[in-house]
Amino acid sequence: MRTGPIASQRFFLSRGLSTDSYLLNLMSDAIESVLHEDRLFAPAAEFSARANISSQAQYEAMWQRAKDDPTGFWGDLATKELDWFQPFEHVMEGDMPDTKWFTGGKINASYQCLDRHLKTARKNKAAIIWEGEPGDTRTLTYQQLHHEVCKFANVLQKLGAEAGDRITLYMPMVPELAIAMLACARIGATHSIIFGGFSADAIADRNNDAQAKLVVTADGGWRRGKEIPLKANVDKSLEKSPSVEKVVVLRRTGGDVDMVPDRDYWWHDLMEGESADHEAAQLDSEHPLFILYTSGSTGKPKGVLHTTAGYMLGAQMTTRWVFDLKDEDTYWCTADIGWVTGHSYIVYGPLANGATSVMYEGAPNWPDEGRFWEIIEKYRVNIFYTAPTAIRAFIKWGDQWPQKYDLSSLRLLGSVGEPINPEAWMWYHRTIGGERCPIVDTWWQTETGGIMISPLPGVTATKPGSCTMPLPGVVPAVVNEQGEPLGLNEGGLLVMTQPWPHMLRTLYGDHERFVDVYFGKFGGKYYFAGDGARRDKDGYYWVLGRVDDVINVSGHRLSTMEVESALVSHPLVAEAAVVGFPHELKGEGICCFVIPKGEIPADEAKKELIKHVREQIGALATPDQVRFTTALPKTRSGKIMRRLLRDIAAGKESAGDTTTLEDFSVLAKLREDTEG
Ligand code: WT7
Repeated sequence: MRTGPIASQRFFLSRGLSTDSYLLNLMSDAIESVLHEDRLFAPAAEFSARANISSQAQYEAMWQRAKDDPTGFWGDLATKELDWFQPFEHVMEGDMPDTKWFTGGKINASYQCLDRHLKTARKNKAAIIWEGEPGDTRTLTYQQLHHEVCKFANVLQKLGAEAGDRITLYMPMVPELAIAMLACARIGATHSIIFGGFSADAIADRNNDAQAKLVVTADGGWRRGKEIPLKANVDKSLEKSPSVEKVVVLRRTGGDVDMVPDRDYWWHDLMEGESADHEAAQLDSEHPLFILYTSGSTGKPKGVLHTTAGYMLGAQMTTRWVFDLKDEDTYWCTADIGWVTGHSYIVYGPLANGATSVMYEGAPNWPDEGRFWEIIEKYRVNIFYTAPTAIRAFIKWGDQWPQKYDLSSLRLLGSVGEPINPEAWMWYHRTIGGERCPIVDTWWQTETGGIMISPLPGVTATKPGSCTMPLPGVVPAVVNEQGEPLGLNEGGLLVMTQPWPHMLRTLYGDHERFVDVYFGKFGGKYYFAGDGARRDKDGYYWVLGRVDDVINVSGHRLSTMEVESALVSHPLVAEAAVVGFPHELKGEGICCFVIPKGEIPADEAKKELIKHVREQIGALATPDQVRFTTALPKTRSGKIMRRLLRDIAAGKESAGDTTTLEDFSVLAKLREDTEG
């Protein structure tokens, strides 16, 4: 329970942050939210007028209908928006955790992305505009993409692949990755994409878990001018993954590879002379479309399984609603297809909408820090979707890079992956968006399949750092440990109270773990995402990060993300990671790892930052330690691994699993920078 606003709030409001930290929260298990952000950015009238969803009333009507009559809402959309070989009988069967959607229907995701567009003016429209890291480019129209996908579907079948088989794709960001995905979908094989940064052991684990029959890879991939030895990694993995019978190898870099006779085949040899006619398999709505492994906090990775019709409807509709996609748009999502963002928002969502999707192979700072902005200028990109970790890097690299390029084609910006710090949001808004582009901060997960909570760019007035409101069909709540709903401004656990078509169906091969991990906490009633959140006075959602990252300082449960945002609002700070460490008096103390914008400053600066956080948030959140560093441990998708920082803060050796770490040298560097 909270009392009213405080007198000093005005002072903090002027800086974009305020504090209500002194407010007593009587819920012992609630998370106290201390970050307060009151800047509001309403969409321009011209934007709203043209938007796919264009008014608050329209949004509310959709949302309410979807909540009260989910089968009517989703059933109508599925009938209208999906191409069926055979119509479904039931919109939804069962309840969480085990819901089935559009049962009795026959459908194909590849047909939904390709064939149906060939009967329209989209036939000769660019489906994929690809830019390689070395500067080579390719454009595939819908017709050309269809042609390649059909050929590769025939290739896969000749290699013995059948509907229901699992196929591992371990490839660079090249059009053939999208071609391979769609070819798998076309024959009903379930693809399991492994991000190109993973090691041979990680590939072997995933091959074994999925019992993959085929692997599609490339000789190598380009990353900052260096060749990543993809095929060599696959070779090593196959020593430990006996289920794999055959390997298809795309020639990308031209590097040397060992080809094992009767096991390994060149992509181009198999494709040569292959027929471009292929009839898409007529698959059940619940046919498994893909497995995507996501790291668990402990133990082996979780094979999140998505099925066909529900996932496709979710990907298609959320792309249209959130990115306001129009036929004339050039849309670019910078994610790697190795992550779910690339699955849903480079391939399936955009292509199902008949959009033009830009795909870039390489790093944002190759050959220099202007590469992304150069690509936007070159292709006149209209919609740009990236991650906060990238945005913080852009800020660190300096405004001179975006300023060198014409970014005036942009009309909409998106963010995904973690909470975006308000100051990073403001920079994105000003420097990239020219203060004219709405920003959609999209909250979702590998498990949710598509965006769940996000502004609608023509409707929602945005607040920096808030993912705002649930999309139609999404009914979240913020609850306490007992599952009781919390009031406005009370921080708690973010749950979903109703099923949605694009939710995961299981963890591959371990349904018990699926039920336990996502539904165990509230006895099967709610889907629990693992994130903390609060709703503000206007009902806006503010995600507070993973609940595992919450720290308990003198009995106050604080979100580390909010302390990080306070740090990042100081001009000295480029990036910050905050963790708790055992503290004799407070239970947990606050330890801040800080990457400065320039050189590592003198120790005085630490005091300055401690004072700053105290001013921004309140005495409660006064950091006990500030440690300057030049690097933070991150996963390959850019998430800070706070678990490893906790060990360092506590002076322990890291015991847990570090296989998902992007750069192993960071740990040693961090200890060197911050200890001693
Ligand atoms: C976790 C899911 C969703 C695709 C990429 C990551 C965090 C993601 C946001 C956001 C605050 C966010 C959550 C979530 N997250 N987007 N807009 N605001 N937090 O997929 O690897 O499955 O990670 O990322 O903590 O649970 P993922």
